[in-house]
Amino acid sequence: MPDTTRPAGVRHRSSILVTGATGNLGREVVDRLQAHGARVRSLARHRTDPRPGVESVVGDLTDPTVVRAALVGIDSVFLIWPLLDSAPAHDLIAELTAAAPRVVYLSSTAVDDQAARQSDPIVQVHADMEALLHDAGLRPAVLRSDTLASNVRGWAAQLRADDVVSGPDVTRTAVVDERDVADAAVAVLLAHHDQLDDEPYALTGPEVLGRADQVALLGAALRRRLRFQALPTGLARSRMLADGRPERLVEALIAASVCRPESNRTTDHVERLTGRPAGTFAKWAIDHAAEFS
Ligand SMILES: NC(=O)c1ccc[n+]([C@@H]2O[C@H](COP(=O)([O-])OP(=O)(O)OC[C@H]3O[C@@H](n4cnc5c(N)ncnc54)[C@H](OP(=O)(O)O)[C@@H]3O)[C@@H](O)[C@H]2O)c1
Repeated sequence: MPDTTRPAGVRHRSSILVTGATGNLGREVVDRLQAHGARVRSLARHRTDPRPGVESVVGDLTDPTVVRAALVGIDSVFLIWPLLDSAPAHDLIAELTAAAPRVVYLSSTAVDDQAARQSDPIVQVHADMEALLHDAGLRPAVLRSDTLASNVRGWAAQLRADDVVSGPDVTRTAVVDERDVADAAVAVLLAHHDQLDDEPYALTGPEVLGRADQVALLGAALRRRLRFQALPTGLARSRMLADGRPERLVEALIAASVCRPESNRTTDHVERLTGRPAGTFAKWAIDHAAEFS
């Protein structure tokens, strides 16, 4: 794997479009790109970006007019695809093909290159997006991320009320700090093309954790005795629907809970891209403890 730990810096003040820029990961990517002196344009649906110096485009990734405007003058795109279906991506792919920026796509470590069909809809959409980008000749740099540590922000409301986190159990994976994924993404966005692998990078944390492990580590950071309660599928489904989550998302989350195979894989790809080993979930929990009180 080539050395990108000393990024070329911003050679000609690159203009970079960050999609999902108001999300857990996108926010971190924007901050780092700005710190590196890149010109940053953010795209999200609901909010303009309040950060000084960030140009905002508000609109939907499925709207070709929005995407066309967002791509004007852009050298590179940090692309996420937060939908559960790749079919609405065809217009986006056409706009990317016409504008021909460099594309860095954020995929999932759960993608199995040997499988005809992926384990569940969330993984399938990432495999489909990778294929669409390749087939369009965009030669994307693909970053496959493990489960982001920041997902546990979804537990904050439960933890303000109780010492129990309940929900569907999921397979154990090497949960990765979204700040490491952002650092890796920025290294790739700012690297020379010939410094990068053609193969996807697999970004993992240093240790394989289940939900109960994460809850216990969060408890240690909060100095509380917390526990995870795995809900049976039917109850998990009805609670998520009662919380107002869309039915299709609920079914995709249930399928991920039931069908996704366990992964014991950890890699050194964060370190290879950033020059630092991936951080632990325990550190993430300490750094973010205030968000849960
Ligand atoms: N979370 C994980 O464990 C994980 C693992 C592997 C890969 N990924 C990928 O990483 C992506 C980002 O994760 P995250 O945790 O940062 O997500 P997040 O916090 O939910 O943020 C999602 C972002 O996408 C924007 N967005 C959603 N739908 C959009 C649409 N139709 N058009 C334009 N923007 C839209 C949201 O903006 P608004 O709020 O304005 O809608 C927000 O900025 C995921 O969508 C997924 O594809 C995630």
